[in-house]
Amino acid sequence: MRPLVLLTILIAFHCVLRNCFCTSEQDKVLSITAVTQEQVNLLQNISSHNETVLWQPASPSHITANTPVHLYVQSSSLARVTEQLQTHGFLFRVLLENTQRLIQEQTRNDTTDPKSSGTNERYHSLEDIYHFLNKTSEDYPDMTKLILIGSSFEKNPLFVLKLSGRRGPVDKAMWMDCGIHAREWISPAFCLWFIKFALTFYKENPDITTMLDKLDIYILPIMNPDGYKYTWTTNRMWRKNRASRDDSLCVGVDLNRNFDANWCTKGASSNPCSDIYCGQYPESEPEVQAVTKFLRSHKDVVKLYFSIHSYSQMLLFPYSYTHEQIPNHNELYDLVQEASSKIRRHYRNQYRFGSGAKTIYIAPGGSDDWAYDQGIKYSFTFELQDRGQYGFLLPPNLITSACNEAFAAVKTIVLRVLVKL
Ligand code: ARG
Ligand code: ZN
Repeated sequence: MRPLVLLTILIAFHCVLRNCFCTSEQDKVLSITAVTQEQVNLLQNISSHNETVLWQPASPSHITANTPVHLYVQSSSLARVTEQLQTHGFLFRVLLENTQRLIQEQTRNDTTDPKSSGTNERYHSLEDIYHFLNKTSEDYPDMTKLILIGSSFEKNPLFVLKLSGRRGPVDKAMWMDCGIHAREWISPAFCLWFIKFALTFYKENPDITTMLDKLDIYILPIMNPDGYKYTWTTNRMWRKNRASRDDSLCVGVDLNRNFDANWCTKGASSNPCSDIYCGQYPESEPEVQAVTKFLRSHKDVVKLYFSIHSYSQMLLFPYSYTHEQIPNHNELYDLVQEASSKIRRHYRNQYRFGSGAKTIYIAPGGSDDWAYDQGIKYSFTFELQDRGQYGFLLPPNLITSACNEAFAAVKTIVLRVLVKL
């Protein structure tokens, strides 16, 4: 065998084993709409293929007729995929041409000091996030506390930053986590932005002051550090954590299917190769264990729960695991409706809202549903910008506007809930 051929085979084999996914110049994201049931089935088939990554919805099983599907297609499969789509009469268009350029933009370090304290307008590597948390807790010793709540599968620390106003102890708290899903980079960016914003404008902005004076705010800026790191080094499109097991070559559990909330029923998968794999048992993952342990031990004080995702611009509340309504459905519906109209009026941007099951899809094992069933009656999942123009590859110059409007929604809900508590 010729050495070059051998090398190619070796690399290919290595890639299969290591789950490689190398992005290239010509990769594209397509927006495809199935109309007939036959087209739905076909699209489920195409999107299950290795060289494509589903951006929206999260899994082939969620594909339905007349809802646009966003599919990342590697250049090597582009001709084959578009030909298949054309033969079967699909409606489709190219959503993103320049994925490689956008990825470069997102990872560019354009400040002279990469560890500069500015959190705006750029994304932060895992290392930078840890640095930011350490530095912030040193700079604001009277208003913050850095709490280690556990560690990830690969033993990266899971840090919660507790924010409080300069006042005595209070008996109410809110929780916010970011970065459950690795590729949703605007999510951890929002948690960092929120921390910076709250600390900077305490005693200057009355809303921030009220929030920090009335509540302890627990923020977990990166719940899935292993996956996040992997999106910076190896595969920008990775969603799950990086847990491996002996009996499968496939890596990763979807942390938002691993909570003990109707675990692994319809809307999750027991196949380790699926992007919505639920894990071997509820709370099997160390990242989920760390969060549930912390929240169980703070159950009596935590009144509000927020989980931050992207993309699609939605303000969601339980349930996602069933179509049944929660007892305070109308109350939470009013809250997200008001938050959404704030964003529309002040930022001219549209956010859909409602219960998870009715607004996106049935999905069990989610953190918001679990928190709700633990007794945290104000529990929300936000899907931040955008609606598919850039998807996960939101350019850095849009971070600030995405964070501002997301903050408007958090603030609206928190201030309205505070007067009821
Ligand atoms: N896109 C998110 C996911 O698939 C939606 C989360 C909504 N809540 C839920 N419990 N599924 O995880
Ligand atoms: Zn997500």
